[in-house]
Amino acid sequence: MQKNLPYLAIAIVLLYALYNAKFHSVQKILPKININYSKHIKEHGHVSHTQEELARIQTPQYLKNYIIGVINHGSNQFNFPGGEMEGGFASAKDAPKIACYVMTFSGKKCKKSYPNDAAMFYSSICAGCHGDDGKGLNGSYPDLTQKKLLGIQKRENFLKSILKTP
Ligand code: HEC
Repeated sequence: MQKNLPYLAIAIVLLYALYNAKFHSVQKILPKININYSKHIKEHGHVSHTQEELARIQTPQYLKNYIIGVINHGSNQFNFPGGEMEGGFASAKDAPKIACYVMTFSGKKCKKSYPNDAAMFYSSICAGCHGDDGKGLNGSYPDLTQKKLLGIQKRENFLKSILKTP
């Protein structure tokens, strides 16, 4: 028995190491599964996700993401005399600060203050259509000073209609 003691000790240490390694790999995998799960809910419009989105549709963060989305991907859903807006007028890097500047038109603010050049970016890239004051050149383009932008209003109506249908 005494002769086998070192082997026993080694076996215990090995088992412990194995258990530890396993435990850590499980820990590593678990958050991944969680992220995929919430992504799944998002993609498939689960009802609870609809409620969750409605709850934050009025927040500045939601508005900021909406404007960034329009800058990056464009918008073609409202039939303005000016036609559609293509994506990519500004780079994805500049989009967030321009979005924060646009939000000031309707009296809203981003958490972090935007750099001073955001206004310059807006007036050189966006104002040709939306106007320096954001009002959309007398109805030719969307008025960005509205309390609720058209896209937000439309999304809100859509989410509410999902909740109504049984
Ligand atoms: C060539 C003209 C043009 C330029 C330049 C332009 N837009 Fe637009 N924008 C439009 C049009 C047209 C629409 C409406 C498109 C539609 O029917 O969905 C629009 C829609 C939008 C909307 C959605 C409005 C709403 O009520 O939901 C936002 C926000 C917006 N633009 C911001 C910007 C910003 C910021 C820039 C500069 C980076 C910019 N636009 C540059 C023409 C333009």
